Amino acid sequence: MADQVRIGVVGAGSISVRGILPHLAQPDLADRVALAAVCDPVPGRAAAAAEKFGVEQAFTSYEELLAAGDVDAVTIASPIGLHYEQGKLALEAGKHVHFNKTMTITVAEATELIDLAAARQLRIVASPGEMLRPHHVRTRELIAEGAIGTLSWVSCGAAFGTYHENESVRGGSDVLTNIDPSWYFRKPGGGPMYDMTVYSLHTVTGILGPARRVTAMSGVRVPTRSFGDRSVETDADDNTAVLIDFGDNLFCVATGTAAGTMTGGMGGAFYGTDGTINGLLLNGEPFDFPGRNPAETQARGPLNQALLPHVTGPHREIEEQHVYEDVMQLVDWVRDGTPSIVTAEHARHVIDIIESGYRAAETGQTQDLTTTF
Ligand SMILES: NC(=O)c1ccc[n+]([C@@H]2O[C@H](COP(=O)([O-])OP(=O)(O)OC[C@H]3O[C@@H](n4cnc5c(N)ncnc54)[C@H](O)[C@@H]3O)[C@@H](O)[C@H]2O)c1
Repeated sequence: MADQVRIGVVGAGSISVRGILPHLAQPDLADRVALAAVCDPVPGRAAAAAEKFGVEQAFTSYEELLAAGDVDAVTIASPIGLHYEQGKLALEAGKHVHFNKTMTITVAEATELIDLAAARQLRIVASPGEMLRPHHVRTRELIAEGAIGTLSWVSCGAAFGTYHENESVRGGSDVLTNIDPSWYFRKPGGGPMYDMTVYSLHTVTGILGPARRVTAMSGVRVPTRSFGDRSVETDADDNTAVLIDFGDNLFCVATGTAAGTMTGGMGGAFYGTDGTINGLLLNGEPFDFPGRNPAETQARGPLNQALLPHVTGPHREIEEQHVYEDVMQLVDWVRDGTPSIVTAEHARHVIDIIESGYRAAETGQTQDLTTTF
């Protein structure tokens, strides 16, 4: 077993300063993780993050981090449009990679990374690890056991609202709190499908298995957004509805919208001939699952992040526990060879649904999916 995994954090933006860095800096990880390096092109941001969280080295260039940062693995926490190129460079440099969602924008890019990692015997963990949540595993079992009869259809999705404009690290005056969210609304990689609907697509495919084909409608509904005294033109679609065929006439409606979600939210609602599972409720009543803790759910919301396997001790009090969990999936895989279920193949299939959905919307033609997991 390797001792510490030396990690480089790529991007010192919102998810890094609120989640990844505070979690990985905790002393309980000192035997397993070293915060070896952080990089960010905004002058002073990586250095400020390094000082605040005790990271060994700070760089303004990613290439420098790879060359001089002495890291075994990177967690890529930059805008989604950069993930493919940065992941490829990391694998070529012999580093294991954790990708924040989404791993890439296209299936072709994902396949290239999967092949590259296999050829070099490197590990990829590609967020979000939604099937690590015990209530999602139990939902899969309940459906298989016939708890809601014959499953008829599924709804899932998420909405931008003004979540990113209002994050705690956006409105301040220093490099760690004035982080610009504009990329979330721009191509490539912007829009609620890659950023938010991706969670529920991981859940629904984790529960139902791979899908067969998609059709969709998509466009921009809110052309201009503002944060602080600035405005951003939206050029990535912010209003998308995808119809997904899982075979045998089982369909799912997935949305990634400017505002408003259907029931089931990030997880999904499953409608059967004898009942419905909607989030944490089976026919309107809470259902049981390993570790279920109603007080915890009441206090911290329905996503049950604190039930993830590595979220213990101080990690229960730090934000973005699911991202920390996914990073630790990679750490365990690298250290002791424990393969994670948070695979690049699953991520590629979800990327296929999103990419094919956009293609269906553009062409007006239903698209066959080409991937599985
Ligand atoms: N914000 C959230 O709530 C959240 C939650 C979970 C996952 N994520 C994911 O985390 C990733 C980052 O999102 P974020 O909200 O932290 O974005 P952000 O805009 O807050 O931060 C991105 C950072 O990356 C930096 N950056 C830009 N170009 C770079 C480059 N070439 N190399 C290194 N860094 C570069 C930016 O300067 C910025 O500091 C995305 O994949 C996102 O989907 C975000």
